[in-house]
Amino acid sequence: MTLKDINMKLVKKARILIYVIAFLLVVATWLVYSKEGTMTTDMSNAFGYLAFSFLSLALIVTPIRVIWPKFELNTTFLMARRALGVSAFIFALFHSSIQFFVNFAGDINILSTYASANIFLLFGSISLTILFLLFITSTDYAVRKLGKTWFSLHKLVYLAYPVIILHAYKIGLDFLDGKIDLYSGSFLVIAAITILLEIIRICFSLSKPKITSSDSL
Ligand code: HEM
Repeated sequence: MTLKDINMKLVKKARILIYVIAFLLVVATWLVYSKEGTMTTDMSNAFGYLAFSFLSLALIVTPIRVIWPKFELNTTFLMARRALGVSAFIFALFHSSIQFFVNFAGDINILSTYASANIFLLFGSISLTILFLLFITSTDYAVRKLGKTWFSLHKLVYLAYPVIILHAYKIGLDFLDGKIDLYSGSFLVIAAITILLEIIRICFSLSKPKITSSDSL
């Protein structure tokens, strides 16, 4: 079976497939990290990791299309992108909610006191707010309704991404004292690959000759 055949089979199912995988990952994370049925910081951090990984996958869809326009699976990836973004927000919501209830006793005053003392915790709230905005506008209706504004709004993801990396790196237990383990190491590799692909994409776009009106005739 060629990649082209696989693409034909997957393209229409790409979104539902991502949602099924995301749901199974939620169940697996609960089973692995819940203690006597209670939520834990490790569970929250696992959801934080999943949120970041799914967001990174959503971000690399365009660079792969620009750098390898003939890649057979491009349309499947493109169809999957919205589901990757929506799942990233849901994982981030689980992460931050568990942090809020487990580490901040569900008390917004405690959270805001910590967030005002630690900008990297505030970065968490900022990036969650951005992901929420992208989530509520991730429908065909919103794309039609917002038109050009939709594209400017969704460019906020390029602000959220480095903010999330700093948030995790600066306050995450798995990054404490520059510790590198499977979790923190793979997190940094995912971040490096995503940022590198974005830089190559930008170089590609800048090196492409601008099509002026006379050219297009
Ligand atoms: C209101 C929003 C948020 C709050 C209150 C929050 C809270 C926290 C806290 C307290 C930690 C440190 C946990 C520890 O002790 O290890 C943490 C780490 C982390 N957060 Fe968030 N966060 C928020 C949003 C986000 C978002 C939107 C993402 C990703 C999309 C994210 C991804 C992570 C990751 C990957 C870590 C590192 C975990 C580790 O070291 O294992 N967070 N967050």
